[in-house]
Amino acid sequence: MTALPSMERTRLPLPAVLARSRALVRPALAEAVGRLHPWVAEMAGYSFGWCEVGGAPAVASGGKGVRQALAVLGAEAAGAPGRAGVAAAVAVELVHTFSLLHDDIMDGDPTRRRRPTVWKAYGTGPAVLAGDALFALAVETLAAHPSGAGGVRLLSGALSELVRGQADDLLLATRPWTGPGRVRPDAYRAMAEAKTGSLLGCAAALGAALGGAPPATVGALDLAGRHLGVAFQVADDVLGIWGDPAVTGKPVHADLRERKKTFPVLAALDSPGPAARRLAVLLESGGDPGEAATLIEEAGGRTAALAEARRHLAAVESALAAVPLEAASAGELRSLLDFVVRRDL
Ligand code: IPE
Ligand code: MG
Ligand code: MG
Repeated sequence: MTALPSMERTRLPLPAVLARSRALVRPALAEAVGRLHPWVAEMAGYSFGWCEVGGAPAVASGGKGVRQALAVLGAEAAGAPGRAGVAAAVAVELVHTFSLLHDDIMDGDPTRRRRPTVWKAYGTGPAVLAGDALFALAVETLAAHPSGAGGVRLLSGALSELVRGQADDLLLATRPWTGPGRVRPDAYRAMAEAKTGSLLGCAAALGAALGGAPPATVGALDLAGRHLGVAFQVADDVLGIWGDPAVTGKPVHADLRERKKTFPVLAALDSPGPAARRLAVLLESGGDPGEAATLIEEAGGRTAALAEARRHLAAVESALAAVPLEAASAGELRSLLDFVVRRDL
C-alpha cells in the first residue's frame, strides 16, 4: 500500500476489478431487483443508476461498485472463483443502496451523484419503502444461499453496526464545538468505523466466507475493510475542506459551511496552542469558512488527518499480511483499497 503522497487531486484510473465485478454481479443484482414490486424496482433501478424517473434507460452512471468488487475479491483471495462471491456482492450492494436512500432522507440531501436523490424524485414515503425493500432483498438473497445462516449472521452484524454509526453521526451533529460535550477524535473514529467500515469489512469478509475461507481469513478481511472505512472517511473529510470543487462536485469549504464534525476540525480543536483557541471562537460565532480552513491547517488538523488516514492504511496492510491470500487477487485487492482512499487525492 503506497502512502498518501499529497493532497493534489489527480484522476486515478479505475482499477480493472470494478468493471469485471460489475459485469459478473449485474445479472444477479438485476434479477433480484426484478422480483420487487415494479414501482419499487424502478426506484431501486434509479438509485443504481440504471434508469431515470419513469423507467427510461439512464443517462447518468451509478456508483463505482466498490463493495461488490470487495466481495468478489474476497472470494478470489480465498482461492475460490469470483462467482462464489456473487451472492455476497448482491447483498452488500443492496444494503449499501438501502443505506444511501435512507441516509439522504436523514441528511436532507437533495442530490447524489449529480441527480436528485430518491426522496426528492419520488417522495419521502416511497424512498423509505424502496430502502426497506432493498434491505429485505439483501437478507433474502443470502438466506437463499447454501451457506445462508453464516452469511446472514455476518450481514446482520454489519447492519446493526451501520445503524449504530448513523445514530452516532446524527448525534455528533448536535454536539458543541467546545466544552465537556465536545466531540473528540476517538468518537469520530468509532462512528466512521461503524458507519462506513462495517459494511466495507463485511463485503470482503462475506465474499471470502462464501468462497470457503477459514475464519482467520474472514476476520482479517473484515478488519482490513474497517480500517479502510476510517481511512476513506478521513481522506474524504480532507477533500471536503481543501478539495478542488471542480473535482469534488461540492462547493469550496462545503463541509465547513455545513458545520460538519469532520476529522481535521476535531483534531485541530484537540491540539494545544493559540490556533486551536482562535478556531474554537470562530466556529462558535459561526465565522467565515475560509478563515476556519486556514486556522484548521495552522492548528495541524490537515496534517493530523493525513497521518490518521496513513495509519489506517498501514493497519489495512497489516491485516492483509497476517493471513495467506491468493496472490493475484490480493494484489487487485490492494490496488482497489488504495484507489478507494486516494481516489482523486
Ligand atoms: C453515509 O454517510 C453512510 C451511510 C449511509 C451508512 P454520509 O452521510 O456521511 O455520506 P454521504 O456524503 O451522504 O455519501
Ligand atoms: Mg449523507
Ligand atoms: Mg449521513
